[in-house]
Amino acid sequence: MRRIAVSGSASGIGAAVRRRFGDGGAEVIGVDLDQAEVIGDLSTPDGRASAVSEVLERSGGSLDAVVACAGIGPHTPEVPRIAAVNYFGALGFLDGLLPALQDGEDPVAVAIVSNSLGIIPRDDALVAALLEGDEQAASAAAASVDGVTAYGNSKYALAVAVRRRAAVWGEAGVRLNGVAPGPVDTPLLQATIDDPVLGPHVDDLPMPLGRRGAPEEIAGIVAFLLSDAAALVHGSIVFADGGTDAVLRPDAV
Ligand SMILES: NC(=O)c1ccc[n+]([C@@H]2O[C@H](COP(=O)([O-])OP(=O)(O)OC[C@H]3O[C@@H](n4cnc5c(N)ncnc54)[C@H](O)[C@@H]3O)[C@@H](O)[C@H]2O)c1
Repeated sequence: MRRIAVSGSASGIGAAVRRRFGDGGAEVIGVDLDQAEVIGDLSTPDGRASAVSEVLERSGGSLDAVVACAGIGPHTPEVPRIAAVNYFGALGFLDGLLPALQDGEDPVAVAIVSNSLGIIPRDDALVAALLEGDEQAASAAAASVDGVTAYGNSKYALAVAVRRRAAVWGEAGVRLNGVAPGPVDTPLLQATIDDPVLGPHVDDLPMPLGRRGAPEEIAGIVAFLLSDAAALVHGSIVFADGGTDAVLRPDAV
């Protein structure tokens, strides 16, 4: 039986991933603030360490896949928390579980990033602090920008971090990729829509396929990346946004 750890498993995309693999007979170890096998808060170093150690305990130190879905939206009032959860939380989860993946069968991991990584203007100080792993400096940099900037830059840095791990993770025998969705109908997107400032702009971007995504569609891409059909896909960011990124950045390949 395949054993998979999924963060953010209680809602939205993480819940769809959990359903897809749980229904398919896998053992899913969900991690979330509530309603999960492992209750943990990925926003702090201590919370990450205890969530990772509980997953290691439950899995017997062996995992075949890890999917980092936990995240918070650009509407979050406490802006530094966006960087803490979406960047440090995701990487702490992935890196902390790498040894267990190395013990697994055809091991593979996926991080959910966002197509905002290529759309939101870059904040160099925040990106530098994130990529240096300096959580204090990142928190200070995030405190001086708005939630949209913190969100897009945290996702950009996470995508870069995924690609930067290709050499080491590949040598360790573990594939790692990112999925970059556009708007997907989940509670996170609904909270953004309900935000009086951000809400009116949610549908501003061009969307060639003319609709938002469903969490199950993102889970389908995760399933592909976790499958043998994607055995050569490593260090890639797969956009799943109905064509928005292609329209806005046609030359960014
Ligand atoms: N929905 C979208 O439009 C969209 C678009 C692009 C990327 N994403 C990304 O997809 C991922 C999943 O988002 P979603 O839309 O399913 O959101 P969601 O709010 O439905 O689910 C996110 C889950 O993460 C959990 N979480 C939040 N903070 C946490 C913490 N500190 N510790 C542990 N768990 C925590 C929440 O409790 C929740 O269950 C996020 O990383 C998000 O940034 C979403």
